[in-house]
Amino acid sequence: MKRSIVIFGASGDLTSRKLIPALYSNFRKKRLPEGTSIIGFSRHPFTDDAFREKMRQAVLEYRPAEFAVDDWNAFAHALSYHPGSVEKINDYLDLAPKVNTMDGGTADCLFYLAIAPSLYPVVVNNLNEARLLEAMGNNGYRRIIVEKPFGHDLASAQALNADLLNVVHEDQVYRIDHYLGKETVQNLLVLRFGNAIFEPLWNRNYIDHVQITVAETVGVEHRAGYYDQTGVLRDMFQNHLLQLLTLVAMEPPVAVDAGALRDEKVKVLRSIRDIPEEMSARYTVRGQYAGYRAEPGVAPSSCTETFAAVQLYLDNWRWQGVPFYLRSGKMLGEKLSEIVIRFRRPPHQMFDVLSGSTELSTNHLTIAIQPDEGIHLRFLTKVPDGGMAMRPADMDFHFRDAFQSIPIPESYERLILDALHGDPSLFARDDEIALAWRLVDSIRRGWEGEAAPLLSTYSPGSWGPMDSDRLLWKEGRWWMQDSISQNSGQDEEKVVAS
Ligand SMILES: NC(=O)c1ccc[n+]([C@@H]2O[C@H](COP(=O)([O-])OP(=O)(O)OC[C@H]3O[C@@H](n4cnc5c(N)ncnc54)[C@H](OP(=O)(O)O)[C@@H]3O)[C@@H](O)[C@H]2O)c1
Repeated sequence: MKRSIVIFGASGDLTSRKLIPALYSNFRKKRLPEGTSIIGFSRHPFTDDAFREKMRQAVLEYRPAEFAVDDWNAFAHALSYHPGSVEKINDYLDLAPKVNTMDGGTADCLFYLAIAPSLYPVVVNNLNEARLLEAMGNNGYRRIIVEKPFGHDLASAQALNADLLNVVHEDQVYRIDHYLGKETVQNLLVLRFGNAIFEPLWNRNYIDHVQITVAETVGVEHRAGYYDQTGVLRDMFQNHLLQLLTLVAMEPPVAVDAGALRDEKVKVLRSIRDIPEEMSARYTVRGQYAGYRAEPGVAPSSCTETFAAVQLYLDNWRWQGVPFYLRSGKMLGEKLSEIVIRFRRPPHQMFDVLSGSTELSTNHLTIAIQPDEGIHLRFLTKVPDGGMAMRPADMDFHFRDAFQSIPIPESYERLILDALHGDPSLFARDDEIALAWRLVDSIRRGWEGEAAPLLSTYSPGSWGPMDSDRLLWKEGRWWMQDSISQNSGQDEEKVVAS
């Protein structure tokens, strides 16, 4: 039996930074199915040895702690390179003997599309024409992993989907969202459905609101050309933030299998209430960091948002009336991804809270996704020898302390293995992608209308424009992160949105 992984875009950044290091880690952990060969495909004229050397450098750079000469040498045997253009059918025909067997025996193959999205249909059509998508042998498979972004709006995502599904079945397509490969994101399912104590409280009766933050400290870096056409709403909300929202809000699935899990996620996405165009400025915020327009590759008058915050409601039984606040941006104060579940205050407050602040008198549960993966529960406790004065206290769980000998793996490790084993649970299905785009498109329509929120500039290192804080303040709430109120919106100025 033969098994291969073909990486289209082998000379690119994703292959060096994520894919080969993840495959190497899996190999070291003896999780890569035995005999798997990894074939890099791109136009650059590498020899096999030159490609191996480039990948060795990549592992040394991105997984220095894991690099071991013997392991690397064993892994490097599995690596080879096939120079070719994804646009030339002959280059696929030349590839065929490397992935097929001569006698029609089983030859599994996973094609990883680490190339520009405009090339996805080209690759899939050429693979089809070269008959590389036809499974060989008993129970053999041919699958493709598609990188993000999957379209840039609903229409383009549907067109891309139609192009793919014209030649492959939905169950052969693995649309990656690396957030779902994060241990802490998967732990959200364990927290909610592996414990009995949270689920009874996980609803509108006990939860005041939910916050989801994905903050980056970096600017657009080398991605300016792509980013300026995209913005944070398409780049982060359509996929990562909405995926997190589905996991927080979904009903318990009947099983942790791909069908049940994804059905429940789809129900959440379907329940998200549209934001009417005339309410755009009421429920959405957009910002651009100061200096963005001077970045190389960014249009000098660009109105692309590098920060967005939205307030969403889910029209279903569990979450009626509970706001979900989502925000994400570049050049923010801290690199951070977290979910905060803020509980309601006790119906009757019998005790004096030390500072008298309402902030202190509510419980919240924080699911820290990165960088310090963990779970924190805030509750009130009595101050010793202080009468009945109370103070907030935190019960903290940090993955790195609890599992000292087990480093948290990179999300690509898990996701590539799942695709090899045919488990699509942590990949997005076509209907999830479409519903997420539908929401993002409707927010963007609001931003093009007369009631659009202004595009505010914010200082690098802050927590976005003041409008983001106002979104919550006007309802007596605030972003739950210590430094926010001190930093947000410094030097705020307004620019007129296009
Ligand atoms: N980099 C990341 O961290 C990251 C994260 C999330 C998603 N993604 C997605 O992953 C994909 C790849 O991103 P990247 O950052 O790796 O891009 P990149 O560095 O620009 O690499 C693009 C790759 O495509 C190859 N390529 C381009 N035209 C080709 C052709 N006609 N035939 C064969 N190969 C061709 C290039 O190789 P040759 O020029 O040698 O042919 C190169 O290997 C994109 O869809 C991106 O959105 C990337």
